Amino acid sequence: MLTYTAGGAGPTVILLHGFPLSRAIWDSQVRGLQGSFRVVTPDLPGLGLSPALPDGGEPSMTAMAREVLALMDRLGVQKAAVAGHSMGGYVALALWKLAPERVSGLAMVASQAHPDSPEAAQGRHATAERVMKDGSGVVAAAMGPRLFAPGMGPENPLYQAATSIMAQSDPAAVRYCLLAMASREDFRQHMTQVSVPTLILTGELDVIIPADRGQTMVDAVPGAELVTLSGTGHMPMLENPDGTTRALAAWLGRISG
Ligand code: MLT
Repeated sequence: MLTYTAGGAGPTVILLHGFPLSRAIWDSQVRGLQGSFRVVTPDLPGLGLSPALPDGGEPSMTAMAREVLALMDRLGVQKAAVAGHSMGGYVALALWKLAPERVSGLAMVASQAHPDSPEAAQGRHATAERVMKDGSGVVAAAMGPRLFAPGMGPENPLYQAATSIMAQSDPAAVRYCLLAMASREDFRQHMTQVSVPTLILTGELDVIIPADRGQTMVDAVPGAELVTLSGTGHMPMLENPDGTTRALAAWLGRISG
């Protein structure tokens, strides 16, 4: 069962973190939203304080989404708004596909519906092997310089916080996520069927998932709202915490129940 934090009262929103991070990245948004909403932030399987999925299953976004659904069952939450950052967005899409009746709204934060290209998938497999040999610091070192907008380097406390979560992640869980991301399906074909209030939040300067990936989703999802945060990279919830909270609060305000 996933480890999580839950606080506040009102309609439930679940915030899913990205790769290979933890629920800690959402701290500002939790503080900002829990006056009006019940905010649930799980650690995804094997990351943060959550246990890994049992060995043997094929790594997949669907398996991770099932864990989030199990957490909703445990909390007695029939329906929730689900926001995912980057890989958390891939999990949110898998959850929506598994159980659309349990999703009242969808927010994709610095995320995408595109699958990996064959080259990207191959790169993930190579990284997974390196992580098992040399540890998760490999991922922290590779991603750190690309996470934030230019000007936020290793001297910045947010940079240090994000990369230290990454470096401390369990290598087996990092490998799991890499393989699950490499084999995730192309969700572009499904996006036209999303019929709940949808927010696409992009960072103008994101070099990990460029902002035009957001435009593809906005074009596909009926009524989706696009918010692009200027001067922001791949970590809007840390780089522009108030702007991110405001966008999420406006999206949640559009969800009736
Ligand atoms: C993430 O930030 O969750 C990952 O970088 C997403 C990805 O690599 O596709």
